[in-house]
Amino acid sequence: MSLELVVARSLNNVIGNNGDIPWKVRGEQKLFKEITMNSVLIMGRKTFESIGRPLPGRETIIVTRNAQYHQPDCTTASGLAQAIDIATQYEKAIFIIGGGEIYGQALPLATGVHITTVQCEVNGNIYFPVFPTNDFTLVNEKHFQSNIDYLYQHYKRREQIES
Ligand SMILES: NC(=O)c1ccc[n+]([C@@H]2O[C@H](COP(=O)([O-])OP(=O)(O)OC[C@H]3O[C@@H](n4cnc5c(N)ncnc54)[C@H](OP(=O)(O)O)[C@@H]3O)[C@@H](O)[C@H]2O)c1
Repeated sequence: MSLELVVARSLNNVIGNNGDIPWKVRGEQKLFKEITMNSVLIMGRKTFESIGRPLPGRETIIVTRNAQYHQPDCTTASGLAQAIDIATQYEKAIFIIGGGEIYGQALPLATGVHITTVQCEVNGNIYFPVFPTNDFTLVNEKHFQSNIDYLYQHYKRREQIES
C-alpha cells in the first residue's frame, strides 16, 4: 500500500497559521496537483475547511470526531485508521495532506513523504512534526525558483526500498 504525506513547510517548520497557509508561492500548487491527481486524499476537518471544497480528480476523506459532519462529494471518517480503511478500497495511491494533527498521527504509518520546503521563515501556529530522517531515504529532489524559491524532496521509508 502506498500511503504518503504531502506537505509544504517553511524553513522553520511552520505549515499553517490561523487556519491558513502563511505564504503564496507561485508553482507550488501545481506541484501538489501533479503529485496527488487521481488519488485518494485524507485530511483533517480543519484542513478541509481551509480548502473549502473537494479537489477535482481526487477522492476526499475527511477525518473528524463529529459523527454528524458531512460535506458534498466527500467521505467522513471517525479516525485515521478508518480513513485509511476506506481509502484502501479505491485501489489508488493514498495521500495524507494535513494538517498538523493528522500529519502527527500519520507520519509513523507513512510509506513516503513529499516535502516542499519554502525558503523563508514565517510566523505560524501549526508545525510539521519532527521528521525522522533516519527512517527515510531521499529518492528525488528538485530546486524551484519562484517568487519564493522552494525545494521539493521525496522520501521513501527505508523498508519500502529494501523490500
Ligand atoms: N503547509 C501545508 O502543507 C498544509 C497542509 C494542510 C494544512 N495546512 C494548515 O494546517 C492547519 C490545520 O491543521 P490542524 O492541525 O489545525 O488541523 P487538521 O489536522 O487539519 O484537523 C484537525 C481536526 O481533525 C480531526 N481529527 C484529528 N485527529 C483525529 C482523530 N484521531 N480522530 C478523529 N478526528 C480527528 C478533528 O476534527 P473535529 O474537530 O471535527 O473533530 C480535529 O479538530 C491550517 O492552518 C492549514 O492551512 C498546511
